[in-house]
Amino acid sequence: MDRIYEGKAKIVYRTDDPERVLMHFKDAATAFNGKKRGEIAGKGRMNAGITVALFRHLERAGVATHLLEQPAPDELLVRRLTMLPLEVVVRNLAAGSMSHRLGLEEGRPLSLPVREFYLKNDQLGDPWVNRHHILALGLADAAQVAGMEELAGRINELLRRFFAERELELVDFKLEFGEAEGRLILGDEITPDTCRLWQVGSHERMDKDRFRRDLGGVDDAYREVFRRVTGKEADHVAG
Ligand code: TMP
Repeated sequence: MDRIYEGKAKIVYRTDDPERVLMHFKDAATAFNGKKRGEIAGKGRMNAGITVALFRHLERAGVATHLLEQPAPDELLVRRLTMLPLEVVVRNLAAGSMSHRLGLEEGRPLSLPVREFYLKNDQLGDPWVNRHHILALGLADAAQVAGMEELAGRINELLRRFFAERELELVDFKLEFGEAEGRLILGDEITPDTCRLWQVGSHERMDKDRFRRDLGGVDDAYREVFRRVTGKEADHVAG
């Protein structure tokens, strides 16, 4: 099949229909812009399944996503979007790069969900950009920036509640948006690769920080998130 794009965790293929592309989720894991590499057993299938469950939940609440079908456990058929070259991060608690940059203890509550933009550029290590950079460089227009901020806020409310009902605290996460027919649509994935999820109470890390920080138990954390989010045992999809 004809590859349109290969990233660190996914491959995107063309299909017979120019409006649809196939996303293949890999077991490969990287961190620190590809400097750390590894594999998480069954991750491709688990992340595809987690994305389906979360995107279906968002769709039911009226958030448009690119998801069409799941033709195989590690593959999603999605609508082709014109992607905006940005990552949108939403934070409910300080952690990761925010804690590092601003000298904040991880887990410090934030009095409103903080939204940040990063330029998608591997060579530059996805640098932080603000609204002025985005507008001055024509990365998105004012309506798109406002639309992404509003949608990111709504998605945060929906996912925070969804995860809380499953004893997981949504600390922060990353989104990517694209457009089709002049409408902003949620693309890419939402998985433990792209979220920080902490066990309610113990604050045990249930996400890719286990890999980034060599905490051990990486596969088990992904399997547990898969189980809580999809209601299915990961054994049936992984292995
Ligand atoms: P950060 O604290 O490293 O900036 O990460 C914030 C959130 O964004 C975290 O949930 C992980 C996610 N993320 C990605 O999905 N891709 C990335 O390349 C990075 C750096 C973070």
